[in-house]
Amino acid sequence: MSDVARTDGAKGTDDSVGTGRVLVVVPTYDEIENLEVIVERLQASVPSAHVLVVDDASPDGTGELADKLAARDPRVHALHRPGKSGLGPAYVAGFRWGREHGYDVLVEMDADGSHAPEELPRLLAALRDADLVLGSRYLPGGEVRDWPFYRLALSRGGNLYTRWALRLPLSDATGGFRAARGTLVDRLAFDEVASQGYCFQVDWAWRAARDGARVVEVPITFTERALGRSKMSGSIVAEALVRVTAWGLRDRLADRLPGRVRRTVPGRARDRGRSSGSR
Ligand code: GDD
Ligand code: MN
Repeated sequence: MSDVARTDGAKGTDDSVGTGRVLVVVPTYDEIENLEVIVERLQASVPSAHVLVVDDASPDGTGELADKLAARDPRVHALHRPGKSGLGPAYVAGFRWGREHGYDVLVEMDADGSHAPEELPRLLAALRDADLVLGSRYLPGGEVRDWPFYRLALSRGGNLYTRWALRLPLSDATGGFRAARGTLVDRLAFDEVASQGYCFQVDWAWRAARDGARVVEVPITFTERALGRSKMSGSIVAEALVRVTAWGLRDRLADRLPGRVRRTVPGRARDRGRSSGSR
């Protein structure tokens, strides 16, 4: 598609981004009340960014709305998938589309307003010295607003467990507000990613860290959605628990095998210098 080759409104702001052409991938399932507002907020915050809505045939018509927004603004694109198949496959498809269409930076952002587009410039600024920037609710300066106690406990517990099981020194490996260099996305074997639900986030943060990528966290404020419903479910939690446990066990076992190359964690990766990847 030739439309993405345009630099609509990009000239002035691309320098402030400093990382190239940005595609914000927004997965949607039944987000009709939220989609238009989030796209408008994003465009006000980072006018040069393009948006790709990845919709899983939402029954409420979110996909048709995405088409309508795309028809009137060349910075908006829509990708339609035949049915609800989870956050992981939606992002994998969105990332692939983005790289095929020449974007340099891929951003993950929820459609429901929990991730503030107004904070995206800070993530993009941090990407100048990183391959992957994770928005973190749990760093000093980060915050979660309006979550019920059980949801906060689940998220904090999930992150503590992930940190321990995978020896992954991140404060928020499950979050979904991120920016990555396209070159990192190309390097990671997304075709093998089996994670369906929200553990996709842990999955690829872990892959990036092990690949020696420069992973950086910046504090964000997460605000619970005002409209629509969360798609979090027991099976999403169960998948994450099973997979993280299996990865952690496999990793510890592999550590004991002779001849195994030392694993790389983000802290060490950062120490190795800043020679590669920046432009
Ligand atoms: N295409 C597609 N397919 N989109 C989906 C699917 C799916 O199967 N499931 C969820 N989404 C979309 C939603 O429409 C929304 O835009 C975004 O993914 C996040 O879904 P929510 O259901 O709002 O997630 P949450 O607020 O409960 O969870 C938040 O916390 C998780 C755990 O920390 C999010 O920030 C997640 O990204 C995060 O992993
Ligand atoms: Mn949400």
